[in-house]
Amino acid sequence: MDQRKLMLFTGSSNPALAAAIAKELGTNIADAYIGNFSDGETRVKINEDVRGEDVFIVQSTSTPPNQHYMELFITMDALKRASAGRITVVMPYFGYARQDRKDQPRVPISAKLMANLLTSAGADRVMTIDLHAHQIQGFFDIPCDHLYAVNVFVDYFKAKMNNPVVVATDAGAVKMAHGYAKRLNCEMAVIDKRRVDDKNAVATNLLGDVEGKDAIIVDDIIATGGSLVPASKMIKEHGANKIYAAITHGVLSGPAMERISESLIDELCITDTIAQGTDKEHKKIKVLSIAPVLAEAIKRVHAAESISSLFNV
Ligand code: R5P
Repeated sequence: MDQRKLMLFTGSSNPALAAAIAKELGTNIADAYIGNFSDGETRVKINEDVRGEDVFIVQSTSTPPNQHYMELFITMDALKRASAGRITVVMPYFGYARQDRKDQPRVPISAKLMANLLTSAGADRVMTIDLHAHQIQGFFDIPCDHLYAVNVFVDYFKAKMNNPVVVATDAGAVKMAHGYAKRLNCEMAVIDKRRVDDKNAVATNLLGDVEGKDAIIVDDIIATGGSLVPASKMIKEHGANKIYAAITHGVLSGPAMERISESLIDELCITDTIAQGTDKEHKKIKVLSIAPVLAEAIKRVHAAESISSLFNV
């Protein structure tokens, strides 16, 4: 066991999740001031001694991502200069992850840039959940613990589904869908998705059989609903019964809420990696907490124990 004290800090993006993690760990959120100067610059003051300690800071880089990243960088700088022994960034939602390759000329790879900036700001380790692509782990030259929400969703869905089938919204979600199908002991199907622009996608084909089955569509992110909603329509046209969705990060931006209301989806389950305002409350949306998974992983990192065994099937 690490002799250093485990200290948990939070940024302003998701204090409710940080509090839930602290409760699971049987600890308190350590005291820090995170606010702004009058011109909008981020102002941070760590109010507790962190010298030599094992520090974890919870911050999702969700909307507004630039502010949340900046807060995180500046808080880490303060922790580093206060001689924290080790700094682990617990980033349930890793913003800017979708730009993870040069798929057009003259575009950035923002996921790599953010990984570099996190390391420069002082991160010794990063812990995150359901990255947009597994390879993003390799963008970090520090340890990156990649966790999954799959067990949380499967525990919720397995009792309510009859004759289930797992559906990947696109080729990128196939690996994730495998994980669900293995745990639900069922077949999977894949939507052939073509993206039109950042708000719209077209489901052009369905590979696999969904007829007479309860479908669960899985993905890492729901942003505008431009992927999920056409997918649910196509599955319905192919004879699926109930249509559920298990999507880890509820970005829920732009026309998402309206699209979900009008869709054929019976229930969309997201996790609390991103804090949701009351404008995102909806009878079709259920939020499951990821706090127990994060707390267990933090405990294990602190004790230098295995994380992967958390996800054994
Ligand atoms: C794309 O590759 C992602 O996995 C998601 O399918 C996508 O980001 C969802 O965005 P939207 O809801 O706007 O289609």
